[in-house]
Amino acid sequence: MARRKKIYEGKAKILYEGPEPGTIVQYFKDDATAFNAQKKDVIEGKGVLNNRLSEFFMTGLNQIGVPTHFLKRLNMREQLVRSCEIIPLEVIVRNYAAGTMSQRLGIDEGTQLPRPIVEYCYKDDNLGDPLVTEEHIAAFGWASQQDMDDIVSLALRVNDFLSGVMMAVGIRLVDFKIEIGRVYDGDFMRLIVADEISPDSCRLWDIETGEKLDKDVFRRDLGNLADAYTEVARRLGVMPMNAQPVTKPTLIN
Ligand code: CDP
Repeated sequence: MARRKKIYEGKAKILYEGPEPGTIVQYFKDDATAFNAQKKDVIEGKGVLNNRLSEFFMTGLNQIGVPTHFLKRLNMREQLVRSCEIIPLEVIVRNYAAGTMSQRLGIDEGTQLPRPIVEYCYKDDNLGDPLVTEEHIAAFGWASQQDMDDIVSLALRVNDFLSGVMMAVGIRLVDFKIEIGRVYDGDFMRLIVADEISPDSCRLWDIETGEKLDKDVFRRDLGNLADAYTEVARRLGVMPMNAQPVTKPTLIN
């Protein structure tokens, strides 16, 4: 059997050449990183959970007409996606203050924002993904004005969808990050939601207790990350059915 060609290896995922032109296999690793990879660990089962969760969110988005790169899940850790040209921006949508916004502006974490706020960071690990404005994006040609209008509209639709899905299971969507890709259909270029949507890239708080069910559990040493992600998957009804147990069974005696 021919060896698959690895296209790219990132912090949490590996991309391989797909079976047909224009497709990519996205493999979810168990590696967790935070603070620009200064903090690292391997969280058993995280890749399996994120593969399922990202499939769940992307499928839902496709169904309501928000285009994404997701084609189908292949196995426990891999999904087939459309290859696209990633725009070098992290698009962040915030409903409540948290993380870097709280630090920058001195707003208490959990404060509801007057309306969803969209922010952009330039994707560059060496620079620590700095916050940029639409002026930078236009001046450096990372995206056109038309792209920016489409990106805001996609980001807000993803926000409405995710907020609703989460609220239905008692979870507050505090903020999230998406990445956007370009695909070419003949003479036309379209923007689609790419990368992943998972608790690695969202802040998710239990509505009743405020318990964190996202990567902050790892960033801030608040407990077991796989347990938190399993709880999100359980509430959404996307528990990996034939998966290895995520937490090791405790042996009695
Ligand atoms: O996560 P951190 O506090 O460093 O940054 P933030 O700007 O407060 O992050 C806003 C949201 O985007 C959070 O849900 C992060 O998990 C997510 N994010 C991400 O997924 N990847 C990044 N490189 C930066 C932020």
